[in-house]
Amino acid sequence: MQDNIATLPDGVVTFTSTVITYTGSPASISGIATVAYIIAAALFILSLAGLGHPKTSRKGNIYGMTGMLIALIATAFLLTTSGLMIFLAAMIPAAVIGAVLASRVKMTDMPQLVAMLHSFVGAAAVLVGFATLRGHNDLTGSALLIHNIEIFIGVCIGSITFTGSIIAYAKLDGKIGGKPLILPARHILNLIVILITIALGVMFAQAVGDHDMTKAMWVLGIATAITGLFGIHMVMAIGGADMPVVVSMLNSYSGWAAAAAGFMLSNDLLIITGALVGSSGAILSYIMCKGMNRSFISVILGGFGAAAGTTVVIEGEHTEIQVDGTVDLIRNAKSIVIVPGYGMAVAQAQHTLSEITKELEAAGIKIRFAIHPIAGRLPGHMNVLLAEAKISYDIVLEMDEINEDFPETDLVLVIGANDIVNPSALDDPGSPIAGMPVLEVWKAKDVIVMKRSMASGYAGIGNPLFVKSNTQMLFGDAKKNVDAILTAYRNC
Ligand code: TAP
Repeated sequence: MQDNIATLPDGVVTFTSTVITYTGSPASISGIATVAYIIAAALFILSLAGLGHPKTSRKGNIYGMTGMLIALIATAFLLTTSGLMIFLAAMIPAAVIGAVLASRVKMTDMPQLVAMLHSFVGAAAVLVGFATLRGHNDLTGSALLIHNIEIFIGVCIGSITFTGSIIAYAKLDGKIGGKPLILPARHILNLIVILITIALGVMFAQAVGDHDMTKAMWVLGIATAITGLFGIHMVMAIGGADMPVVVSMLNSYSGWAAAAAGFMLSNDLLIITGALVGSSGAILSYIMCKGMNRSFISVILGGFGAAAGTTVVIEGEHTEIQVDGTVDLIRNAKSIVIVPGYGMAVAQAQHTLSEITKELEAAGIKIRFAIHPIAGRLPGHMNVLLAEAKISYDIVLEMDEINEDFPETDLVLVIGANDIVNPSALDDPGSPIAGMPVLEVWKAKDVIVMKRSMASGYAGIGNPLFVKSNTQMLFGDAKKNVDAILTAYRNC
């Protein structure tokens, strides 16, 4: 590595020595680091396993954090003194900024933070690609070709992830509208972009093979710009209701971008970690698509649901109920299902709900929670909040487990949920969410919907549930209303 550094132009030395000093380190240190990397990789796998269930998710997080700490320490040991200085200079402020941001972020704003973090991974893969290209290597023949392909693919995936994630952040944060941007002939446009990128890939490999690095840089730069535009177009074309899939899809892309960076840097741990994130993100995207009855391809191609129509018009009058009436219905019910949604998370009503649950269970009422796979704004959002409020996992059921029980349910309390209980998904083929499985709460004897107004939810469409004859609306902030219900229930 020292020889290599000597041949590098200024400025590249610093970067390269920060990240690829692996081969230049004493054998014993690199051996220990390899063992540390294997331990870290095992901890990442255990972490994923732990995150599969709320009961073990805390442990999963601890495994993940320990693995990352081990990986960072092992990497630091592989560095030269100057490399270590640069490593620390980058790491310490980044760690402080990360800790401050993560501790300040509201749970409901988590998807935006995650989208922003994905964009960093994309940007890192692009930068590593350019730096690797500028760096020296002794490869020839097919090894050089493979290396160039790694760089090209890594930069392209990184660029799509970077721009796509920034657009996802802006959409999730409401900085740009959630409506899909449908360009005319967009599929042909996408196809042209893909073909141009492949052609640029061939030009790039030829330029590097001819040692024409200026041309290679230019070609890689153009490919970065084109794939960046592709990332913007891809996410802009995805409608509001499909955003959950976009978040997990970009999660997957960021993993593949990290894996590509791992190949470029010959860093096994980065390859393993990237592959774990990439494949788990892909599986999550598949699960989300299934939960929304979308085909993965139709989501990626974008604009799904937009063609069908704009808003669902609700015909009929809604009926209002007050806290006292709600308490009466609760008292007379033998079985109650609570459906939490985004509004419960915003209002932070889960702790009072936990209290109500205890009271009702003590009174012999059967009470359960029904969780839709895309309730809230991030996968598992409701499960995390209910677990935080110490609501027993045994009474928290997934949509498939509880949907058939609604006809035998006396009362459903819908708390700050909207799209996930919208019957138009099943009744109206023209609805933008047509075909999406929803919680069929209207089949219960009585339904009370707690929200602040008749406003639509994330998908921006009206909800005929609100005007059904067995539905009553309890308007107001979810937390205030559940607090009032608890007080009234205890006092009467
Ligand atoms: P939404 O359909 O967004 O409905 C939430 C409702 O909560 C709103 O209609 C709002 O009505 C009400 N609300 C807001 N603040 C409230 C408060 N303080 N007190 C009481 N109610 C309040 O949520 P959902 O039913 O959970 O469905 C999730 C939606 O988010 C889906 O469209 C899904 O595609 C999308 N999404 C999900 C994810 C993931 S991964 N879960 C990620 C991105 C997007 P008012 O304004 O009238 O109060």
